[in-house]
Amino acid sequence: MRFRLPLSFTSILLLTLLCGCQGEDGSDGAEGAEGPIGTEGPPAYEEPAYTYLGGNGNDCRHCHQYIVSNWAGTNHQDAFVDLGTDNIKPGCLQCHTTGWDSEVSDDTISVRGPDTTGFDDYFMVATNEAFDRRAALAGVQCEACHGPLGPEVNQSDEDISFSTRQEDDKHLSICAPCHARHLTNWNSTGHGTAQTGSIEEFNSRQSSQAESCQSCHTSEGFIRANDPAYAIYDFPDQKSFIGCVTCHDPHSDEVEHLLRKVGNIEVEYHPAHEDGDPGIPMLGRPEAAELCSRCHHAPKDNDDVENQIRNGDPDFGPHHSPQMDMFIGAGCYEIEGKAYIRNHLHRTNIEDKCVKCHMKRKVYLTGETQQHVFHTFELEAGNCAPCHIGLTDFDYNGTQTEIQAKMYQLAAALGYVTTTDFLENFDSQATGVRIWEREAAYALFFVYNDGSKGVHNPVYALTLLQNAIDYIGENTD
Ligand code: HEC
Ligand code: HEC
Ligand code: HEC
Ligand code: HEC
Ligand code: HEC
Ligand code: HEC
Ligand code: HEC
Ligand code: HEC
Ligand code: HEC
Repeated sequence: MRFRLPLSFTSILLLTLLCGCQGEDGSDGAEGAEGPIGTEGPPAYEEPAYTYLGGNGNDCRHCHQYIVSNWAGTNHQDAFVDLGTDNIKPGCLQCHTTGWDSEVSDDTISVRGPDTTGFDDYFMVATNEAFDRRAALAGVQCEACHGPLGPEVNQSDEDISFSTRQEDDKHLSICAPCHARHLTNWNSTGHGTAQTGSIEEFNSRQSSQAESCQSCHTSEGFIRANDPAYAIYDFPDQKSFIGCVTCHDPHSDEVEHLLRKVGNIEVEYHPAHEDGDPGIPMLGRPEAAELCSRCHHAPKDNDDVENQIRNGDPDFGPHHSPQMDMFIGAGCYEIEGKAYIRNHLHRTNIEDKCVKCHMKRKVYLTGETQQHVFHTFELEAGNCAPCHIGLTDFDYNGTQTEIQAKMYQLAAALGYVTTTDFLENFDSQATGVRIWEREAAYALFFVYNDGSKGVHNPVYALTLLQNAIDYIGENTD
């Protein structure tokens, strides 16, 4: 709240004082210009409507039993204990406790927050009550994310949020107060659609609006499709970027790092098999890679692909996302009678799969060198280093160069000047396009859309392209 001290008042007072004892008062001078804004007055005091209950979910257990017992196994529950002897430092406590809303600088509370029932409000208070309250509010509990829900249970019923976003340099996610570093990383990724900007633009895309796309392109859609608890939840109309809550389930310790448990997914295009057959290729553990594969696979089934080959399609080829399929060496349309090599050592040797190359970094943390997870998803040659010593780019043994040359060779065999010329101008439904051309063209889209230029699976990428090139040579009609 600001108040102004009008200059006109001051000038009148001054004039009166100056003229005080000299003869007759003259007439008042003209009103002066408005003065500078005065200093800020104290904020109006408002008693916060809600208070923190704390108690490690004790008040919630009656109705949310599973959530409480799942949360109790997470590292959020242990956040206070993990501070060890640093558990008296505000600089640490601010993120390792519940209800902290005071500002901290130089390890002391510098500005008090408005609520009066969070951990910070009992800090350094030497009463029995304060001692009990500190114990009740230790760690990252329910209300650290859901806000104060007392004084009677569930008095506040704020909507839960699935969103992760930044507006004018401010993070608005519920994880933001404590996970700024992850958010800054995330902000630079395609998952955060950093390059394209606003949430309004994001919501105007077909991939955010159409139900068949939301399961891979929006936070809400992914949660609805993969968590039975949300199958019939009434989500808001506005959809959110793929963010913290999309990949992490704050309540479940079933999977390491609170990752969502989504289960394995089968390659969707696999001719002559029924869903669930034991022979259908799958990526397999760890769960982190299963999570990536839920979205990073080609969502086209047998009917879809066969139909594309027979009749063409305005959106010809697999979707932009066949990374899992490529990695395990399956899921592309394969030409009858040709041999395909599927198994590459990346599949068997890289235990973490997607995460190993796209997320891990060696860093120096808390006094030792560790593998730490970064959320930029940006590849670094250093991540290949444990296996390919001295590698400075991803073109190990010239594989990417070779695959790109083969892509060009295939595009040329189909009658295009460059690979880009093919990608932009190939029309699978144009009159006169023959079925064998579509069979060959599919492989080029598949390898291109995978995006790794062969690194995910050099042998599968190579045989897909080479077989298609050979096949064109065999078909001259
Ligand atoms: C007396 C039963 C009861 C207790 C105790 C209770 N809740 Fe709830 N809670 C409900 C019901 C019923 C709903 C609405 C149904 C639903 O969305 O699952 C709900 C919904 C919620 C939601 C979701 C709101 C939304 O937008 O969907 C959150 C978050 C929540 N409760 C947190 C808590 C927390 C934290 C506690 C403990 C401090 C707690 N509840 C205690 C019954 C209870
Ligand atoms: C009040 C601060 C706070 C908030 C809010 C918060 N976290 Fe955390 N989080 C922490 C702290 C502190 C740790 C480290 C706990 C420990 O191991 O001692 C942590 C750890 C984690 C971990 C690592 C767990 C593991 O087992 O490796 C994940 C994942 C995580 N948080 C995700 C989230 C997400 C997602 C949100 C938002 C929905 C969130 N957190 C909100 C403070 C917070
Ligand atoms: C800005 C919020 C924030 C502050 C301040 C903070 N932490 Fe943390 N801390 C976290 C988060 C979030 C994690 C989860 C892991 C991560 O971010 O990599 C974490 C993880 C940890 C862990 C690792 C727990 C584990 O299971 O390995 C320890 C120990 C820790 N913090 C201690 C401290 C200490 C000591 C201080 C004060 C010097 C401190 N933290 C200050 C947010 C914070
Ligand atoms: C780290 C942040 C965080 C913590 C801690 C947390 N929640 Fe949640 N909660 C969320 C988020 C985010 C959602 C919505 C998305 C989801 O469930 O993955 C949610 C959803 C809910 C829901 C509604 C949907 C459902 O699954 O029924 C309830 C109820 C709930 N939380 C209760 C609790 C209770 C009780 C606790 C403490 C034992 C707790 N939460 C701790 C972040 C958190
Ligand atoms: C909810 C679905 C979903 C999940 C889960 C998911 N992704 Fe993505 N990912 C996408 C989408 C959609 C894009 C494209 C975003 C865009 O450009 O609009 C993308 C883009 C990317 C990119 C391209 C680079 C960039 O920053 O744009 C990489 C690399 C990536 N994801 C890796 C991963 C890894 C590794 C995992 C698992 C840890 C993962 N993704 C989990 C949907 C997902
Ligand atoms: C099986 C999950 C999945 C489904 C379903 C899906 N997408 Fe995607 N889509 C992805 C992934 C993952 C990427 C990112 C691939 C990459 O970066 O290489 C992507 C990329 C895209 C791109 C190019 C990158 C961008 O964001 O501009 C467009 C456009 C797109 N999808 C539109 C759609 C539309 C429209 C639908 C619905 C008809 C849809 N997608 C359905 C997973 C999916
Ligand atoms: C596309 C999926 C994805 C998104 C989005 C994502 N994470 Fe993660 N996160 C992961 C995976 C996968 C791991 C574990 C990697 C591994 O197995 O080592 C992880 C690990 C973590 C960890 C534990 C390791 C560490 O860094 O200390 C924390 C904490 C964490 N994430 C927080 C967040 C927060 C906060 C956000 C939102 C800004 C977020 N994550 C967004 C996939 C994701
Ligand atoms: C051997 C390390 C490695 C593994 C394992 C790996 N990737 Fe990649 N990925 C790469 C490289 C290298 C590129 C190409 C980068 C370049 O040339 O710029 C790439 C490219 C991508 C792209 C396209 C990026 C873009 O900007 O369009 C996506 C998406 C992707 N990978 C997702 C995944 C997924 C999902 C998995 C797990 C199924 C996975 N990756 C496993 C190394 C790996
Ligand atoms: C866990 C170990 C491991 C990691 C990490 C790894 N690779 Fe590999 N890679 C292998 C093995 C094993 C082979 C097969 C033997 C060989 O060709 O050296 C291989 C083969 C390759 C090949 C094929 C070479 C050829 O001549 O056929 C390429 C290309 C490649 N890796 C690139 C990468 C890139 C780029 C990264 C990092 C983004 C990476 N790899 C990360 C283990 C790994």
